[in-house]
Amino acid sequence: MTTPTMLSLIESKRDGGTHDAPQLRFLANGAADGSLPDYQLAAWLMAVVCRGMTEAETADLTVAMAESGSVLDLSALPGPVVDKHSTGGVGDKTSLVVAPLAAATGLTVAKMSGRGLGHTGGTLDKLESIPGLSVDLSVADFRRQAAEIGLVIAGQTDDLAPADRVLYALRDVTGTVPSLPLIAASIMSKKIAAGAAAIVLDVKYGAGAFMPTRDAARALAETMVALGERADRRVVAVLSAMDEPLGRAVGNALEVAEAVACVRGEGPSDLTELCVKIAGWMHVAAGKAQDPDAVRPALQAAITDGSALEKLRAMVVAQGGDGAVVDDPAAVLPHAPHIAPLPAPHDGRLARLDARAVGDAAVALGAGRRHKGERVDAAVGVVLAAKVGDAITRGEPLAWLHARSADAAEAAGRIVLAGVALTAE
Ligand code: URA
Repeated sequence: MTTPTMLSLIESKRDGGTHDAPQLRFLANGAADGSLPDYQLAAWLMAVVCRGMTEAETADLTVAMAESGSVLDLSALPGPVVDKHSTGGVGDKTSLVVAPLAAATGLTVAKMSGRGLGHTGGTLDKLESIPGLSVDLSVADFRRQAAEIGLVIAGQTDDLAPADRVLYALRDVTGTVPSLPLIAASIMSKKIAAGAAAIVLDVKYGAGAFMPTRDAARALAETMVALGERADRRVVAVLSAMDEPLGRAVGNALEVAEAVACVRGEGPSDLTELCVKIAGWMHVAAGKAQDPDAVRPALQAAITDGSALEKLRAMVVAQGGDGAVVDDPAAVLPHAPHIAPLPAPHDGRLARLDARAVGDAAVALGAGRRHKGERVDAAVGVVLAAKVGDAITRGEPLAWLHARSADAAEAAGRIVLAGVALTAE
């Protein structure tokens, strides 16, 4: 067998060819160990976006990426270990709510999360807005925290699917995110390597998601469930709409504050409903319940009696963060110096509030990255004053822009407005 070259893989994919398992292993290992240059990987990624991948290629890429580093075995931890992953949305802070809810109701949640990608936010960036909190845990600390408090959310360790870390960062800045096989392989390689036996996937569709339609999201969900089952994991996928942002807050610290409110039982209804649904499915995936609705009373009780909030506090403190964030987020989290209203241009009912536009506005304010490795600004973002269906009068705020300057707020406001439709009805 001749050793593949990266040039031959790019050319083959460009011309609609397929790769075999050894070729994809060469690519994943070369991405992980730095022997393949970014420009060739980026060219290959674009060829995949344009040409696609077969089911067999997607499965081989997933395994190659998972095995480009070490694969954790968490079977010795107490309780069923469950992971949860979203395909990425705007204002999607569900992990920060679902994980303590699931942990407070008897599951062990050991989760490795990602950073923002394109216009979507990432759990790690959000968590890092809590002063002192570290997401860089060693495998030993990750295991210890999961065993001791039943809840840990950390960044991927350096040797967890390292090929995905390299490809993910390149995709973020080369327009190569929206590809079903790349998304499926990226997510499932990490989930398989992270070791949980049961996984719930929140697959988003709509204006703010990588999958534009419900059908496309279903196809992605089916691919990922099949990839997980091949690796002996119990995988459940939930499809959820992402046309307008989830909840009202978009931006790292702003989302942490909203997530804390939700865990206290004071969150927006769309966010709370989705979180309870996903936590219920985590019990089903873990084999602890037959029906997610049967878990609702226990989840509701964990919110009302404060046990979910205490789990969240325990996690924050164990990771070096200021636990007072769960009592008074505003006192602990960073604030933007300039907060400006975005007035409604005329009277009407809000018919569209495009999640992509709000996500792009948040990135423009500094909440996300435009270049590989760019630092995100924890304090900035957008807080929606209206949601789709609300009636609004001209001049009333549609949203509040949390910015570094008046100019930044004005520019972000224009981006949001391009995604707003107000109708007479
Ligand atoms: N989330 C991931 O982890 N990878 C993707 O490709 C998209 C969303």
